[in-house]
Amino acid sequence: MEIEYKVPGPENLSAVMSLMPALYSEIGPGLEKVLAEFIEDKYYFKLLAVEKGSGAAAGFLVGCCRLEVDFECRAGVLEEVVVRPDCRGLGIGKALLAEFEKWSLARGAQALVVPCGREGFYEKMGFNKGSILRYWKDLPAKN
Ligand SMILES: CC(C)(COP(=O)(O)OP(=O)(O)OC[C@H]1O[C@@H](n2cnc3c(N)ncnc32)[C@H](O)[C@@H]1OP(=O)(O)O)[C@@H](O)C(=O)NCCC(=O)NCCS
Repeated sequence: MEIEYKVPGPENLSAVMSLMPALYSEIGPGLEKVLAEFIEDKYYFKLLAVEKGSGAAAGFLVGCCRLEVDFECRAGVLEEVVVRPDCRGLGIGKALLAEFEKWSLARGAQALVVPCGREGFYEKMGFNKGSILRYWKDLPAKN
């Protein structure tokens, strides 16, 4: 399988969405809007892996680069990475992460942070595991 990598535009939103069932067992109504905003917003790094020829989505990564108080540095913060189940083990996740690392380094990052992480992939990629605790508060909706 030949894979190519591209920065997704709004026309690739459905391709990115097609990968989400591989990440979430339940998909709420807000996810598509969030992904559309990620794609439009230049603050975020986005990379889509597609099969050459068919153009079918094979993997996707989104992240940003910002100051991190906990880690006392500027860091590349990985929001999400997903590879289609039948495309796993081909090096796509590693390639997406390598591009994100380069992008983060170019923006002055001293580390990479992954707030989520359900698998052994990150340990394999050289990450240390930290404890994950997040508080959540709904804010009033704007009219
Ligand atoms: C995690 C994920 C992105 C890895 O993508 P992938 O394309 O299969 O990974 P790669 O083929 O690039 O693998 C890179 C290395 O990590 C290892 N690896 C991949 N998944 C692994 C896992 N679950 N546990 C341990 N090692 C793993 C591979 O063996 C490979 O090792 P190598 O470099 O020594 O050969 C993919 O399995 C996935 O989409 N999982 C579901 C979504 C998810 O959990 N994302 C992370 C949370 S945000």
